[in-house]
Amino acid sequence: MAAALPYGVSEILEAAGAPESALDLGCGSGRLTLELARRGAAATGVDRSAKALDAARARARAAGIDVVFAQADIDEALPFSGRAFAAVTSRLALMIARDPPATLREAARVVRPGGVVVTAVWARIEENPWFGEPRAAVAEALGPDRAAFARVFGRLGDADELAELHRQAGLADIRADVLRDELHLADPEAHWRDLAGRIGHYTRLDAALAPDERQRVADVLARRLAPFHADAGLRLPRAMVVVSARR
Ligand SMILES: C[S@@+](CC[C@H](N)C(=O)[O-])C[C@H]1O[C@@H](n2cnc3c(N)ncnc32)[C@H](O)[C@@H]1O
Repeated sequence: MAAALPYGVSEILEAAGAPESALDLGCGSGRLTLELARRGAAATGVDRSAKALDAARARARAAGIDVVFAQADIDEALPFSGRAFAAVTSRLALMIARDPPATLREAARVVRPGGVVVTAVWARIEENPWFGEPRAAVAEALGPDRAAFARVFGRLGDADELAELHRQAGLADIRADVLRDELHLADPEAHWRDLAGRIGHYTRLDAALAPDERQRVADVLARRLAPFHADAGLRLPRAMVVVSARR
């Protein structure tokens, strides 16, 4: 059975349409980039992390899909000529950029007239308690220094704000959507294990916790997640903003 696509990827692909070429900014391990290629795009993924690019190339090789992965910094001028791509996408990277408007101007420069730019970021942290409550529990149990990670989570996470940035980059036909769903977990302990198993920040934190620290975090987390209990377990809201625009 094919693995489920990461949250928001289907919506990004739908907004991108069927471009003949696509550039994926901050591509990470290439899940979205590969999906663009599967749908017929000559796809290029760029990231500043050599490790992420190695993982992306391995993923493409394993799938037998031809994709170009290159090292590039989205805080700098992109190493592509103007109007080079029919689509530019970026999932969960724009909020990390030093100057997101400048990154979007670069996206607008390299997309051809009539082409599409699609970006996605997590909505504000208050709309993502699945991530925010465990981090707040760490701060409460162990102090703010131990919870000083993923500070950009929720940056640009307002649909109107993100849409306006696309407009200021010279893009038009702007559409902003907020995707919402819920994570279903049996209990707070299961949620912590899930985070530690798949989200790097929590994986590293969990590995460094002494047993008494883990217990303190678990106790605070159980209290903080109490309002999210429903009949059959926890229901934790999750939200992502997806903006598409045309040049
Ligand atoms: C949260 S990951 C998202 C990866 C991928 N787009 C996804 O949806 O799974 C953010 C990615 O942005 C990359 N990144 C962060 N800052 C960057 C920069 N200035 N230039 C290029 N890539 C950057 C990171 O290396 C990382 O792979």
